[in-house]
Amino acid sequence: MLLRARLCLAVATVFPTLANAAGIRIINGFERVYIQPFGTNGVRVRSSLMRDPTAPSSALYDPPIEGPGGNQGLSFDTELGFQDSGQFTNGDLLVSVQSGRLFFYRREANGTDTLLTSEYADTKALPSRFYTHDFRTSSFQASFSFTSDPDEQFYGVGQQACCGDDSVNKKGQVIDLINFNSQVPIPVYMSNKGYLQFFNMPGQGQIEFSTRRTRFVASEATVVDYFITTAAPQDYDALQQQYTGVTGRQPTPPDFVLGYQQSKLRYWNQSQVIDVAQRFHDEKVNVSLIIVDFFAWKYQGDWSFDPEFWPDPAGMAAQVKELTGAEMMVSLWPSVEDLSVNYISLQQEGMLATTRDGTGVQDSFAGVYIRLVDSTNPAARQFLWKRLNDSYFSIGIHNFWIDQADGGSLGEPFLNNGQSISALPYARTFTQYFSGTQEATGKLYPWFHQAAIDEGLHNLTNSESTTSCEYMSLTRSTFAGGQRYCSYLWSGDTSSDFSAMAQQITAGVSVSASGISSWTLDIGGFNGLNVDTDAGRELFVRWFAMGVFLPYGTHRLYSDRQCNIPEAADVLFGNNCPNEPWAYGEENFVILKEYIALRYQLIPYVKKLFQMLQATGRTIMRPLYYDFSLFDDNVVNGTKANDPSIIHEYMFVVCNWLSCDILVFPHNTGPRILVAPVTEANVTSKEVYLPFLPDSWVEQGLSWTHWWTDVEFGHGGIFVNVSAELGEIPVFYLGTKEDIFSGNV
Ligand SMILES: *[C@@H]1O[C@H](CO)[C@@H](O)[C@H](O)[C@H]1NC(C)=O
Ligand SMILES: *[C@@H]1O[C@H](CO)[C@@H](O)[C@H](O)[C@H]1NC(C)=O
Ligand SMILES: *[C@@H]1O[C@H](CO)[C@@H](O)[C@H](O)[C@H]1NC(C)=O
Ligand SMILES: *[C@@H]1O[C@H](CO)[C@@H](O)[C@H](O)[C@H]1NC(C)=O
Ligand SMILES: *[C@@H]1O[C@H](CO)[C@@H](O)[C@H](O)[C@H]1NC(C)=O
Ligand SMILES: *[C@@H]1O[C@H](CO)[C@@H](O)[C@H](O)[C@H]1NC(C)=O
Ligand SMILES: *[C@@H]1O[C@H](CO)[C@@H](O)[C@H](O)[C@H]1NC(C)=O
Ligand SMILES: *[C@@H]1O[C@H](CO)[C@@H](O)[C@H](O)[C@H]1NC(C)=O
Repeated sequence: MLLRARLCLAVATVFPTLANAAGIRIINGFERVYIQPFGTNGVRVRSSLMRDPTAPSSALYDPPIEGPGGNQGLSFDTELGFQDSGQFTNGDLLVSVQSGRLFFYRREANGTDTLLTSEYADTKALPSRFYTHDFRTSSFQASFSFTSDPDEQFYGVGQQACCGDDSVNKKGQVIDLINFNSQVPIPVYMSNKGYLQFFNMPGQGQIEFSTRRTRFVASEATVVDYFITTAAPQDYDALQQQYTGVTGRQPTPPDFVLGYQQSKLRYWNQSQVIDVAQRFHDEKVNVSLIIVDFFAWKYQGDWSFDPEFWPDPAGMAAQVKELTGAEMMVSLWPSVEDLSVNYISLQQEGMLATTRDGTGVQDSFAGVYIRLVDSTNPAARQFLWKRLNDSYFSIGIHNFWIDQADGGSLGEPFLNNGQSISALPYARTFTQYFSGTQEATGKLYPWFHQAAIDEGLHNLTNSESTTSCEYMSLTRSTFAGGQRYCSYLWSGDTSSDFSAMAQQITAGVSVSASGISSWTLDIGGFNGLNVDTDAGRELFVRWFAMGVFLPYGTHRLYSDRQCNIPEAADVLFGNNCPNEPWAYGEENFVILKEYIALRYQLIPYVKKLFQMLQATGRTIMRPLYYDFSLFDDNVVNGTKANDPSIIHEYMFVVCNWLSCDILVFPHNTGPRILVAPVTEANVTSKEVYLPFLPDSWVEQGLSWTHWWTDVEFGHGGIFVNVSAELGEIPVFYLGTKEDIFSGNV
């Protein structure tokens, strides 16, 4: 520590430090590197080979929403040769070039500099900025390495809701930066040393968090572009504020987004939908959104109802509204088949994605070859929106579910028309978009679908507001900055079992730590739940309980259920299994109704969470390390080791509005909710870890209080056993329930 401080001081004395500098340019043979101040306590670094690093597409706002910098193109005030040194600060971040190598420090209040990370160098290592260029195009492969401490922790990197991942601390992992169903990696991570790094690059590649080095690899890029920002160690809210200050903030949602959402695979005709609405009405159960799933269209790419099964969708939407007050949502897929009414126009105008070797077919689904609408093309976005308006919006169906648009091959690179790739010679197509290749720009594919709907809704509702919205889209994928849209991510097609349910907690808190707080999941999982078995019903109720304490769409019920009722003959995907709250047994229905009612009671509280998110980017679903790392070693060590007793709990929190507003740290007032879902079968109690409350909180009279019995358990730092019947998900709170229910927080 001393040694480090001395080294940093030495650095500071050798080179003059420029505050508010316009930036540095490094000239290094074929390579050009620009380092500029950007956002609060932040720096943006861009590099390219043989040309200026101007990014063709960017998830960064330029200028940023908050903080200095931006709007400066490629200006700089210091030019350095490849062996030169120089430095500047932006707020608390000091960037120092030492013999051509980049170092990032946090400038402390006492004037010392703490090294956060630097470009990785070793006598026998690859250069820290390593490119592979075949000179036929301007694109190249890039591999950027940064130093990391062996015991450093890394959080975020988007959503990995599959494949056995069950981690909050990503140290030691390799993350594949490729989107597919339930996998939404985002190249942004926070370090427990107090910095956040974001690669503003929508391509494929990897991030490797190895013992001494963190390496970002881009398969194909024309510009390497990253942002780094610092805050006091453990002030993750500040890092999120600074990150969303350059990538965007979530608008506040309309109230219906916060209530109960009903869906199933699938209501395949309009009288089924009306019957369901009627039943909600008769049972006096609140429902805020009813969703119509895929294949309500005749041909893929029609983006309209098949009149055979949906003769009067306008009447249906009106009736649903009258019976329940609920909004409706329809699914849209990006796939277009040759028989679609839109196929010829889309093909003619170049609005379909192609393969790199020509216009070849990309994929197949449900027995037909299909291609993807190219949402990265503005003309295609306009075309898509026009169809959505004509078919749905203008008749009272205002919300859209962007399913299957992960990019590449229908977001299912491991399946092709029901066959797994191990049975196919060519697993993946080389998709080519208007924006570039899948390898270089693929993560913009879902992002531009979100953009299309967001923009279309703004156009039609004449709303200029970027801080609130009237309608929503639901999406299976996104990219950095996707939070700026009225669009909400869910975790895709997950397995219906308890281990997948537990894993959803780490997927949710990780994507929340990546700037995407508006997150939910399929209650009960997607694959394999049998509605008519006790085990299936138990899993469903446990999962439903967790849904009460998720940011939105609380009881999103969507799924490929199994049951004793056979499929409808002659109807594509005519699964007839019920998936409504009354379908899981009478006793469970009583419990589920109570959970739904509780959610509606919590809406004022959840609204405050979303207002906070909009104002400052403050994370809603919070892993324990966010709020307790400073005071509780069990949380620090448990997070480091990805101990399930720590990482399968989360906080669902808003702090005192005023104290949050001025970002007092640590935030020490206001009610808080700790959620520890039951993720095991056949239990009636659960051991819960209650994090240690700091003295300043205890002095305010805060004490962990059991939600269902109001029994106080003290200041935490201990495991406790609590009863956990089906109707009593283990939840603890701080402060008063009156404040929670009134949203007075
Ligand atoms: C300066 O502040 C940093 C951060 O609080 C601390 O780690 C360091 O020990 C301090 N150094 C001195 C010389 O006070
Ligand atoms: C709608 O589905 C129900 C089965 O749930 C069936 O009885 C009815 O005939 C269907 N209506 C139409 C128009 O297909
Ligand atoms: C929204 O309106 C603008 C201005 O008329 C237009 O350029 C844009 O294409 C529209 N967006 C969509 C998605 O229709
Ligand atoms: C939306 O649909 C309505 C009804 O068909 C139409 O009047 C309006 O012009 C459409 N708007 C756009 C932008 O397509
Ligand atoms: C239904 O929601 C409304 C608010 O929209 C609320 O006032 C009412 O109490 C809820 N009913 C139940 C049974 O939860
Ligand atoms: C946490 O880990 C550190 C370092 O291994 C150790 O010194 C400390 O005792 C641990 N604390 C707890 C509460 O386990
Ligand atoms: C739960 O209990 C039931 C009935 O006792 C038993 O059949 C089932 O195997 C148990 N499940 C688990 C996961 O232990
Ligand atoms: C909770 O109960 C289990 C099972 O009886 C027991 O093994 C465990 O030690 C208990 N934990 C605490 C903190 O009392």
